[in-house]
Amino acid sequence: MFFNQFPTVTTDPNKLEEQAREVMSVRSFNYVGGGAGERATMAANRLAFRQWKIVPRMLRPTTHRDMSVELFGTKQPNPLLIAPIGVQSIFHDDKETGVASIAKDIEISYVLSTASSSTIEEVAEVSGNGQRWFQLYWPHTDSITISLLVRAKKAGFEVLVVTLDTWALAWRPWDLDRGYVPFLKGLGCAVGFSDPAFQAQFRQQSGGKSVDDNIVEASAAWTADVFSGAAHTWDQLEVIKDNWDGPIVLKGIQSLEDAKLAVDAGMDGIIVSNHGGRQLDGAVGSLDQLAEIAEAVGDKLTILFDSGIRTGVDVIKALSLGAKAVLIGRPWVYGAGKAGKKGAKDVLKGILADLDQVRLQLN
Ligand code: FNR
Repeated sequence: MFFNQFPTVTTDPNKLEEQAREVMSVRSFNYVGGGAGERATMAANRLAFRQWKIVPRMLRPTTHRDMSVELFGTKQPNPLLIAPIGVQSIFHDDKETGVASIAKDIEISYVLSTASSSTIEEVAEVSGNGQRWFQLYWPHTDSITISLLVRAKKAGFEVLVVTLDTWALAWRPWDLDRGYVPFLKGLGCAVGFSDPAFQAQFRQQSGGKSVDDNIVEASAAWTADVFSGAAHTWDQLEVIKDNWDGPIVLKGIQSLEDAKLAVDAGMDGIIVSNHGGRQLDGAVGSLDQLAEIAEAVGDKLTILFDSGIRTGVDVIKALSLGAKAVLIGRPWVYGAGKAGKKGAKDVLKGILADLDQVRLQLN
């Protein structure tokens, strides 16, 4: 028996979303549960998991079920990471600091988003000795990019994740219908608002105004810099490489060609991900891209995976197709929506226990 008490959230992956919907406000539920367009990419992500199936083996030892993995020189007891998910104050009061603290308890690395409601420094303060990961939404202005990297490094973050699929916010009908863009209300802007380079730029552009006294204007300025619609290009990765001396992982790779370009660019890892179907509708299921990419470049950089993982079996499928570790997204947000950091923790512990069971069944 894994839980010695009733968990705060259902252990049924298909009920988790419904359970969260019952207690969350409509717009915050819609923000996490929604996706791009008619949510066809989201559906493709799940369908891909259904279509890849497992062939179990028998009469082999089941007692040694070590799932530990070494990522960029640090060993962790399981192959899970907590995906970067911003704006958590709209889901629960525990915010990013709460989730980072439970990550420490269950020894899963937490990937801190640029779009957080807690600052880099606040999250560093509650983080343990585990490896710290920082996800960059790559600003348009180089001085702001560099300032964020310097802060993250100073706060003890080791691995940098650069998200490539979000130069602008996508067409997400569930949010559009409610006129809800959290960033424009100053939500999820804590990292930006606390940044000296952004503050200086805002002061200059607004004729001397301070960020704190002008949240609405500052939100628009921050959103314009980070989600400007102007994509960076491969050659511009030099700016990041010149200003980050740890591992760099590109998030949002879906094509073999881009995976090879990541190798050419000297990257340390990639996350095969389509942002959980939140950016481009009508795209291929993320899992369907994994095997080909892993086969071609898996020996040249670290392959991670996300988009659609809901169960222990899903984790095993992604690992079998070539991922070294996987990122868990929406499920723990639903848990947090239901019961704050305790809910998030129970969801993640549930996936870990489920994973162990699946490993046992596989022999
Ligand atoms: C995200 N994701 C995301 N990714 C990122 O690089 N930075 C971010 O700030 C966010 N924010 C965010 C908010 C919400 C509400 C969701 C649901 C997702 C994408 C996330 O890291 C991951 O790629 C997906 O969540 C994976 O898909 P599933 O498994 O959640 O469907």
